[in-house]
Amino acid sequence: MLAPCRRVLRLWPVLLSISALSVVLLWRSHDDEEAAPDETDRDNWVAVRLGQDQKEYIDRRGVHVVVGHYMGDANNMQNPPNLTDELLNANMFDPRPNEGRNGQPVMIPSHELLKMQQLFHINRFNLMASDRIPLNRTLPDVRKKRCQKKLKNLSHLPATTVIIVFHNEAWSTLLRTVHSVINRSPHNLLQEILLVDDASTRAFLREPLDEHVAKLPVSTRVLRTNERVGLVRARLMGAKEAQGQILTFLDAHCECTIGMYQT
Ligand SMILES: *[C@@H]1O[C@H](CO)[C@@H](O)[C@H](O)[C@H]1NC(C)=O
Ligand SMILES: *[C@@H]1O[C@H](CO)[C@@H](O)[C@H](O)[C@H]1NC(C)=O
Ligand SMILES: *[C@@H]1O[C@H](CO)[C@@H](O)[C@H](O)[C@H]1NC(C)=O
Repeated sequence: MLAPCRRVLRLWPVLLSISALSVVLLWRSHDDEEAAPDETDRDNWVAVRLGQDQKEYIDRRGVHVVVGHYMGDANNMQNPPNLTDELLNANMFDPRPNEGRNGQPVMIPSHELLKMQQLFHINRFNLMASDRIPLNRTLPDVRKKRCQKKLKNLSHLPATTVIIVFHNEAWSTLLRTVHSVINRSPHNLLQEILLVDDASTRAFLREPLDEHVAKLPVSTRVLRTNERVGLVRARLMGAKEAQGQILTFLDAHCECTIGMYQT
């Protein structure tokens, strides 16, 4: 009984030095991956079409930053126009097939500019531009090439519940968020989508929204709070109902690009 034990004991120093060596090697390769972005990294970034008033740079941590300015109604922030109930309850979603394709800027025709400035005040973004972009518009793959090659085999990943809280969100931004999740995640990893409505008052966020999500190819439900509860409690309400092993919280006005879940 003793002999094999001794042999194991004698092996210890060898095993220890092998594991120490592998730790050092792992450390080194990790270091290489985390290394500061160099010029070759620049080739990995997707090119964006910049407007006159925009600039881009890569920050110290290697994040690609694009700075833009909304040129709409900046002068009139103190005196927003009176928005009628009729306007607030209207769903003005009016998609044009090529608008915003591949993330390109939307050009509003000059005869619509006044209306555009008025609509800006409803959600504090360019609602008219958003409403012209289809729900399934294309977007570039913004991952680095190195990242795109990772995680080819997804079968071991757990499924997720995506939870999106909104309050009086615009139809086009809310549903582009939902459609981009559906179009750009592997469906076997997407258990369900839960939309938590934090006491919205706009008419199209009631039955029309329920009817729209009922037709989606991924199980999607709208939960509603009885009164305004705020972002955190609304997220917790979604978390309580969630069936997926992983919870993914998203804003109600974002768009997912390819690989958003797995990479
Ligand atoms: C908005 O409505 C208020 C009260 O009805 C009125 O006093 C104000 O002048 C209106 N503002 C604009 C920009 O129309
Ligand atoms: C988006 O959907 C429309 C109609 O549902 C379809 O005609 C169009 O080809 C789709 N666009 C993309 C980029 O998938
Ligand atoms: C993917 O991973 C699973 C479990 O981790 C494994 O059973 C399966 O054979 C892998 N598939 C491929 C194509 O490598």
